[in-house]
Amino acid sequence: MPKFSHPREQRAWISRFNALLVASLLTLSVLNVQAAEVQIRFSHVVAEDTPKGLAANRFKALVEQRSNGRIQVKVYPGAKLYGDLDEMEAMRLGAVEMLAPSLSKFGRIGFPEFELFDLPFLFGSVQDVRRITQGPIGRRLLERLQRQQIIGLGYFDNGFKEMSANRPLLEPADFAGLRMRVQSSHVIAAQMRALGARPVVLPFSKTRQALASSVVDGTENPVSNFWTQRMNEVQTDLSLTHHGYLGYAVVVNQHFWQTLAPRDRALLTQAMEEALRYGNLIADTQNDKALAALQQAGTTRIHTLSPSQRARLREAVQPVYDELARRIGPVWIEEVQKAVAH
Ligand code: LMR
Repeated sequence: MPKFSHPREQRAWISRFNALLVASLLTLSVLNVQAAEVQIRFSHVVAEDTPKGLAANRFKALVEQRSNGRIQVKVYPGAKLYGDLDEMEAMRLGAVEMLAPSLSKFGRIGFPEFELFDLPFLFGSVQDVRRITQGPIGRRLLERLQRQQIIGLGYFDNGFKEMSANRPLLEPADFAGLRMRVQSSHVIAAQMRALGARPVVLPFSKTRQALASSVVDGTENPVSNFWTQRMNEVQTDLSLTHHGYLGYAVVVNQHFWQTLAPRDRALLTQAMEEALRYGNLIADTQNDKALAALQQAGTTRIHTLSPSQRARLREAVQPVYDELARRIGPVWIEEVQKAVAH
């Protein structure tokens, strides 16, 4: 410290020194973030206030905190960066490192066995789903992705899907002639056909607009997606059919994964496990919250099905199992049915 002729001078010097110190620390921390050693671009198609959006943000927070900013995760929600049609290709080319597509979207890129999750009325509860995703079947499915240089890091839920349109959808006859937006899954398309509707495959990010302009008449999704896409403004009726499951697999570019230091892979794996557990924990409440908000908004009539109405829908879609067995692989279907029956 320099010599001062007066204590006031010394105090002024100290306060200038402190201000400088704070400024340099701030600059350093900014530089730290900019100079992250590893950057992960994580792209997804839904809103931030959904099970997937929140789980992705939780992953980012855990990773950046535990690596002291050395690993940076940039989350791109709402198909801002890539959508259903190009996200897999973008990851293959290294334009993004991480995605969390719905399980229904793996058939399109050569993994039709993933469409087993779309079989209508297959799972009675998320506990049933867990028996598959947390067990040997789930592990084997993820391993298959390596065929295309994709590493599967794990599964998590959104929840059960409901049907929407500008009319109640309570009986098979209600679906007659409706154009229903579906994800790119042959199983979901077959399900809609079995109900007498016409499936129209559209990317998620185009769905609301397609409903608004009557390109399609209805769709299916868990309530959190319905609400956060403001589909309630363009659909008068939501029928709580709970007919199928919507879940995700987090996937990462294999080449990128292999270039990481083992300790970083371990950090990311651990953070992902925690983020997925968190995602599963909040999925139900996010859908309940969305349903409550929807009721409050009063824009859309909400219909609960009687057990016999649900049974009739279930019966109407049974042919899908035989029709799609060859595509999925009958052995996968048998194994899953056996696992859920326990
Ligand atoms: C959809 O396309 O309907 C869903 O897969 C969107 C999502 O990722 O939840």
